[in-house]
Amino acid sequence: MRQPIIAGNWKMNNTIAGTKALLTDLIPLVKDAKAEVVVCVPYTNIAAAGELIKGTNIKLGAENVHWAEKGAFTGEISADMLVELGVEYVIIGHSERRQYFGETDQTVNARVKAALAKGLKPIICVGETLEEREGGLVKDVLVRQTTEAFKDIDKSQLENIVIAYEPVWAIGTGKTATAQDANDTIAIIRDTMANLYCKDCAENKVRIQYGGSMNPKNASELMAMPQIDGGLIGGASLKAVDFSQVVKY
Ligand code: PGA
Repeated sequence: MRQPIIAGNWKMNNTIAGTKALLTDLIPLVKDAKAEVVVCVPYTNIAAAGELIKGTNIKLGAENVHWAEKGAFTGEISADMLVELGVEYVIIGHSERRQYFGETDQTVNARVKAALAKGLKPIICVGETLEEREGGLVKDVLVRQTTEAFKDIDKSQLENIVIAYEPVWAIGTGKTATAQDANDTIAIIRDTMANLYCKDCAENKVRIQYGGSMNPKNASELMAMPQIDGGLIGGASLKAVDFSQVVKY
């Protein structure tokens, strides 16, 4: 019912030359994938990536979007700019943005609204830090982040939104949440969505990915879990073979 979605998050990696090499290798490897396949690439690579994946089953994503339509925001990129380049998905509220660039629950919500207003599909990242986990705050953090991110977002938009549960301590560290733990934690997010909207909305409309050191070795176990609808893949999305193996889990 919820189609699996595997998205690569390239972060600040690959020049245009690297983009061409990686996508040229990736396209044939994932062409029969059952999952929806997305690559979220740096702004400077969007145009080149868009050209390369035209006519394939790979969809184009960006890694952030500003909340204003336009104006005096030096260095920022608007939703219209992304739409013009054929971008379909956009990551919002990644923990690296929250940690290093002052992203808050409020700015996440503002970006989600701006993206949806222009027809972009947000991939909203939530997740606890190690400190929060050790302090027994996982549920508090996830309920807060989810509730704030979805403030004033209409139920009719839920099919256009993906949530990525990414425990901060598992990102780029090689430490993965166990499949059972990821599943149970995602259930907390799904319950929160049921409370915010409705049970059917949570069960059938919104997809929730796991992210954090997901790779060819652990993908099938994670994807076998009933709550996990896909993955947001960092490191392993930078190698065509690895990413294709995650996509085909
Ligand atoms: P990772 O990154 O797969 O390298 O842990 C995931 C992410 O940050 O989205």
